[in-house]
Amino acid sequence: MDIRERIQFTCPHNPSEVLQATDTALSCASNGRMYPVLAGIPILHPDPIRWIADHRDAILAALASSWRLSDSDISIVNAVAEMAGSFEAHGFAEDWDLREGSSDTQLDFSSDEVHSLLNAEKLDGLNAAASRIIQGWGGHVLEVGCGVGRFSREMAQLRESELVVLDNNLKALLHCTAAVKQVRACIGDACALPFQNESFDHLAALNLVDLLECPEDFLDDAYRVTKPGGTCLLSTPDPALGLPDGDSERLQRFALNSGFKLQSRLDGLVWTRHVSPRELQVFSTQVLLLSR
Ligand SMILES: C[S@@+](CC[C@H](N)C(=O)[O-])C[C@H]1O[C@@H](n2cnc3c(N)ncnc32)[C@H](O)[C@@H]1O
Repeated sequence: MDIRERIQFTCPHNPSEVLQATDTALSCASNGRMYPVLAGIPILHPDPIRWIADHRDAILAALASSWRLSDSDISIVNAVAEMAGSFEAHGFAEDWDLREGSSDTQLDFSSDEVHSLLNAEKLDGLNAAASRIIQGWGGHVLEVGCGVGRFSREMAQLRESELVVLDNNLKALLHCTAAVKQVRACIGDACALPFQNESFDHLAALNLVDLLECPEDFLDDAYRVTKPGGTCLLSTPDPALGLPDGDSERLQRFALNSGFKLQSRLDGLVWTRHVSPRELQVFSTQVLLLSR
């Protein structure tokens, strides 16, 4: 596996065009678009000006709370927000929890039922299944919707590999890059991946697809950036992708329509989210392992 060639970031509007670095941004030579870089993280959202303007306060707060706010970042964020004129104030969703980034979570539950659920997750749940699959990976790996990096740690430890992570939540991404060494990160939209065709040996998107407005666009783009013979690992607590009919074949159908082949499918894997010492959310997930 040759990983000497690092993955290059490209323009989300023209993914064949490799971006050029300037002092504080990456720029696209073919269409002149600029993508600011904040705390070393390129903002490769298709509309970086709108994204920065709409998240202005949340960006500054996230950078400050991670001790990564510089004068230059403040100037960039303010200048871009001014350029945009109007804005809608959005925060970063906090439906994830920092405990998810930590392996030593202590939950304050005593019932046997909860213990057997946690055991089921450990032995045969989503984490265990994803782990078994990821262990066999190497080369160029992309994780889309990495959140705070619950699964990124494992991918970053693979030998002879390069891990790139993408999320649209800067707060989560700052936690991920602080916790996981050897990772390159960018802000982006899962439906407009800023990478050249056939860049990655493996792509993972765990618990992301059901949140997207455009799951089919994401799957088309995931197929585009995966190398022939490469694999794509998906998990979701909602394979019907929001439709009330509960059609658990829907995600698989979309993936096959995008061109992927099904290698294996697992249903009913336990995935828990530790919301607080007294709140544990339990999901039954579907895992698809696809090949290109
Ligand atoms: C439920 S969390 C899952 C995090 C992690 N993969 C895990 O399983 O622990 C979903 C993540 O997807 C990100 N996300 C949602 N929509 C996205 C989009 N359109 N583009 C990129 N990331 C997105 C969220 O910010 C969040 O970090």
